[in-house]
Formats: sequence, C-alpha cells, structure tokens
Amino acid sequence: MPTYTLIRPDDMHLHLRDGAALASVVNHSARRFARAIVMPNLSPPVTTVAEALAYRGRILAALEPGLDFNPLMTIYLTDQTTPDEIRRLAESEHVYAVKYYPAGATTHSEHGVTDVKNVYPVLETMRELNVPLLIHGEVVDPDVDIFDRERVFIERVLFPIMQQFKGLRIVLEHITTREAADFVRNGPSTLAATITPQHLLFNRNALFAHGLRPHYYCLPVLKREEHRRALLNAATSTNPRIFLGTDSAPHARRDKEARFGCAGLFSAPSALELYAEAFEAAGALERLEGFASRNGADFYGLPHNPTRVTLRREDWRIPDALPFGDDEVIPLCAGNICHWKLDGA
Ligand code: NCD
Ligand code: ZN
Repeated sequence: MPTYTLIRPDDMHLHLRDGAALASVVNHSARRFARAIVMPNLSPPVTTVAEALAYRGRILAALEPGLDFNPLMTIYLTDQTTPDEIRRLAESEHVYAVKYYPAGATTHSEHGVTDVKNVYPVLETMRELNVPLLIHGEVVDPDVDIFDRERVFIERVLFPIMQQFKGLRIVLEHITTREAADFVRNGPSTLAATITPQHLLFNRNALFAHGLRPHYYCLPVLKREEHRRALLNAATSTNPRIFLGTDSAPHARRDKEARFGCAGLFSAPSALELYAEAFEAAGALERLEGFASRNGADFYGLPHNPTRVTLRREDWRIPDALPFGDDEVIPLCAGNICHWKLDGA
C-alpha cells in the first residue's frame, strides 16, 4: 500500500468558532495540523491582542488530552484599530498577524474595513514592525460580478496597498483565480497566498450538480475549471510563497440549508487527505510537503515542525454529518470515499 510521509503540516487559515462549536471542531484540525493561523471573525470579532489571547486560552482548553496543537492568533482589522494595538501585537508571543475583511465581503465581516485609507496609519506601523497583513481579497461593490470580485480587488485595492507600503508582508488568503495565482507568483518576496482544498478539487459546477448545493458554497465562491487548473498548477509549482490554508469554516447545518445560506465549508475532518488527492491527481504528491509543511512556516518565520505524519493510500468514508454544538455540520465531501488516510487520525 503506497504511503507518503511528510513533516507535520500547518494550516495557515482556519476558522475555529467559539463555545460549543469550537469544542466540536478543533480536534479535527489538531489531529492533522501542528499549528494553525486562527481567524478572528467571531461575533463580536477579536479586535485586540487581549481578546486574541483569551480566545487562544479557550481553544487550548477545548483540545483533547494528548493532542499537541499551537493556535497562532490574529486580530481583526477595523476602521478603529490603532497603531498601539499593532505594537502590542508585535510584542506578543502568540499573536502573529492582522486580518483585513472588506466590510460586507463575507461571514462576520460587518465590522471590517470600509475604506482602505482609514487604516493607512495602521498599515504603516505593520510595515515598520514586520507584522503580516492577511487579506480577504474581494471587492464588495454590488456592480462587480461575484465571479470577478477577486480580480477587481487585486487591481483596485491590493496593488495600490503594495505600491504605498512596499515591504509590508501580505498573504492573499484563499485565492480562487488564475489572475490571483499569477499576481502572487510574479509578485515580490513579501507577497504570499493560501489555497483551500475545495478550490483545488472543484469548479463552480459543483455548486449546481443535480440541484443547488449549499455545502459547496464558500467565499470567494468556486470559479471556472480554468481557474481551478491554474490554482493546482500554482500549488504544485514549488513556489515557496504559496501554501496550505484550508479556510475550514463550519456552519450549523440549519444555517447552510437556509433561505440565506451561510458561506463556508467545513473541511477540517479530511483536509490534509483531500489535498493529497488533489496533488496526486496532478501527479505531484511529492510536492505536498513543501506546500503543507515548509512554505507557510518559512513565510511566518517559524521553524518546521519536528515530527512527521504518514498518509496511507487506503479508502475511508467521510462522515455524512458530525456534531456541532446543538446542531450538526456537514463536512466537505460528506459521504464520499477518500483515498488517502492519515495514520492516527
Ligand atoms: C468564512 C466563515 O464562514 O467564517 N466563510 C467562507 O466562506 N470562507 C469567512 C471567510 O473566510 O471568508
Ligand atoms: Zn476564511
């Protein structure tokens, strides 16, 4: 039976929620990943270092005994964030970055930035102190087609930020288009990107196969096949600035299968295994370690994890549903056979 052993990976973009939901989901990630960059879009959002540290404590308290998992915290950028908060972040041992949501772009983004100019003083301090800016890269202008929002964000917002703040470290999160992949690959050493498993495995047809599929709806939304191929190319390219970030974003089943269904896919229970499927299909399984275990750590200036994990080519069935607080959550690829299994997971 073929196996693939790699340095224990990190998830550089993860939503863990809070309270009972946190306890339901965190161990799926902790069984697969050594560390994760934890998103701050709780309700209300995590906007200060003190709140991020308190949230980190709740995450650690929800871990099953014996699991070794280091949550790397972030704070949520608002129009009111101060340069002083950035200074506190730079001194903190456990808070690593600032997340930029354009107000209205996605789940719990209503406290996000309304105009990038409002945060210019904060971005200047981040550049000085070498604090990375993590970006949800979509414009919210309703006149822009939803499939073009990432491309237009790069032109209208990201490029001007990069011109204004040369040297600011930026991660364009969960890229979904050829344009984004090209922009990052041709960009400076300070610019990186994460890619999710769903954007490597599926195109937008998945949203409409045999009916409307809320469990394939995330933001940025799945794109055309040409974009999926471009992302797979980028992920398997050995470019050190492209790395794993699942964007696992669980929502209760009732909130997904609703009149206004929430955006977000819960990939944590099979995330590493699904990346292995995507890389294998591209004939590049041996490149998974760079993408999953080295590139992200290098960008964040972290050591590689000291232990290894082994994937085994063995079929298993992804559960139809899993507990989620007082409801349930439907994982990505629920009920499907996955061809890679992680030892010990
Ligand atoms: C995320 C969530 O639910 O928190 N949803 C999503 O579709 N990706 C927010 C985000 O990362 O955009
Ligand atoms: Zn996200």
